[in-house]
Amino acid sequence: MCGITGVVSFHPIGDRLYEGVRHLEYRGYDSCGIAFLDDHHVEIRKDIGSVDEVDSKENIRQLTAQVGIAHTRWATHGKVTKENAHPHQSCHGEFVVVHNGIIANYKRLRDELLKAGHHFRSETDTEVIAHLIEQHFAESGDVERAWVGALRALQGSYALAMISPHDPDHIYCARHEGPLIIGVGSESNYIGSDFNAFIDYTKSTVILEDGEYGIVSRDSFSVKSLQSGDVVEKTITVIPWDSELSRKGGYPHYMLKEIHEQPQAVRSALSIGDDEIAAVADMMAAARRVHLLGVGTTYYVALFGQYLMAQLADMDAPAVSSDEFRHLDRTDSHSLVLAISQSGETYDTVMSLRHAKERGAKTAAIVNVMGSSIARMVDRVILQGSGPEVCVVSTKAALVQMILLTRLAIELGTRRGTLSAAVRREHEAALAALPGQIETILNEKSGLIRAAAYRHARVQNWLFLGRGIYYPIALEASLKMKEVTYVHAEGMPGGFLKHGTLSLVDDKLYTLVVVPPPSAGELYAMTMSSVEEVKARGGFVFGITYDGEEDIFNDRLVLSPPSELTAPFLPLVAAQLLAYFTATALKRNVDKPRSLAKSVTVA
Ligand code: F6R
Repeated sequence: MCGITGVVSFHPIGDRLYEGVRHLEYRGYDSCGIAFLDDHHVEIRKDIGSVDEVDSKENIRQLTAQVGIAHTRWATHGKVTKENAHPHQSCHGEFVVVHNGIIANYKRLRDELLKAGHHFRSETDTEVIAHLIEQHFAESGDVERAWVGALRALQGSYALAMISPHDPDHIYCARHEGPLIIGVGSESNYIGSDFNAFIDYTKSTVILEDGEYGIVSRDSFSVKSLQSGDVVEKTITVIPWDSELSRKGGYPHYMLKEIHEQPQAVRSALSIGDDEIAAVADMMAAARRVHLLGVGTTYYVALFGQYLMAQLADMDAPAVSSDEFRHLDRTDSHSLVLAISQSGETYDTVMSLRHAKERGAKTAAIVNVMGSSIARMVDRVILQGSGPEVCVVSTKAALVQMILLTRLAIELGTRRGTLSAAVRREHEAALAALPGQIETILNEKSGLIRAAAYRHARVQNWLFLGRGIYYPIALEASLKMKEVTYVHAEGMPGGFLKHGTLSLVDDKLYTLVVVPPPSAGELYAMTMSSVEEVKARGGFVFGITYDGEEDIFNDRLVLSPPSELTAPFLPLVAAQLLAYFTATALKRNVDKPRSLAKSVTVA
């Protein structure tokens, strides 16, 4: 996702601007650029590719300029091109901006600016901001008034920084629903979209709030209210982190950070255009056979999708583990294969898609990494936009994939007449409420889950049970546990127990049961009968449950019931935390567990 940095100093800034954008690379990006003031005009250097690629062409580190801003772009509006990379400038290059976020009213603003004679160089929403400032400057001749006038016209979300030769000693910055902070240094000040941009140079920061803007010079800064223009007194916060920790945003591990990013990742997934969902739904609706494809976690995501397609759209879409796909394959030109992959590089999934294509099948994918092999090889891709997932163990990417499959199932259900317009609206409202419900778990249940993890950290064998759509959740929860703790954990449907596995139950085998809300009726009752079966044989049962009244469990975590549609997601978040805290209790290498790679590119 995009990143912003900037430096204004009494000394050359090349090194610090370069280090600043390098430290934002972890967010993921496709292009980058810088702008700096040179002899009373602004120079821009930008391109697609990595910071080092751009640096090797443009020598960012050698810059002798003293004022500059920089950006890493993760494309949203407009393709990945040099023209669309930030910074963006006004017609005469007098106002140069970098931006994170989405300007919701940019089309209207762009039309107005075009009518007023402005010329655009890119397809981005960001460029309107530079022209808007220029437009206001033509009226007032004052940079700050032009800046404020432009900001007041913007709708949507932004973290912004701007430089101009009309005020060559300052960086202007502002935020609305996107983080922007000022770093207060010695003989230099900084701006950044997060602390990583300048943590190596100063730990003293001023955090802008929504509706505030900052004007930063070499040895001072001021923050004002956008509405009133009054100066806002800010306190300096000293970040007690070293730079390595701060790259994890203050979390001890990327896994925990990424678990905590899930509310935002879900919001991003819900803001993906209906047209993108509809395009893949078109392909699924047109196919005679649909296969959902993934491996490891993404196989469980696919299985979750299979239940959703059946339940919401009355549609048969079997999940196949991509390592087995070739052995089962009956695809032909009437088939659609929908692959799911965080990295977009997983060998088995790539090979299965290749195989299906050779047999004439249509292909689509849900992928997190733009430009990856799978994203490029399929007929249609939905880029899930979950931001970089650094921890080898997948959390936020998987949850978002499940959300996107839910959106696809809702779309298909509407088309196939299995969901009325009213039910569709209810489902969409339920999805919109989900980020807040995940936040409640993260904020209010983490302590309880951590305590439970430490209580049970010495357990050697876990069985994870679920029924119906809670079955793939139990599978994924068990995979989280085993891959990050190295503790044996197997998932299975509750109904399987009495067909052999009950023989393993004793006081040493712990069983985690993912229980649906009581409103699930028969599914709830059947799940509880699995609990009884384990209890009757002296087994220890840990319940993740929505029913505060039911106290049959030996230990339990009670969640607040959301809608029926979104109820399976919350136990998954709880199970991720349980695996994480068990791993920390056992002092495992959480972010890089043994024998697991982020991108499995071998057979
Ligand atoms: C588990 C995990 C793996 C991946 C699997 C597929 O946490 O990360 O099971 O899900 O290797 O990888 P992608 O999604 O990159 O295709």
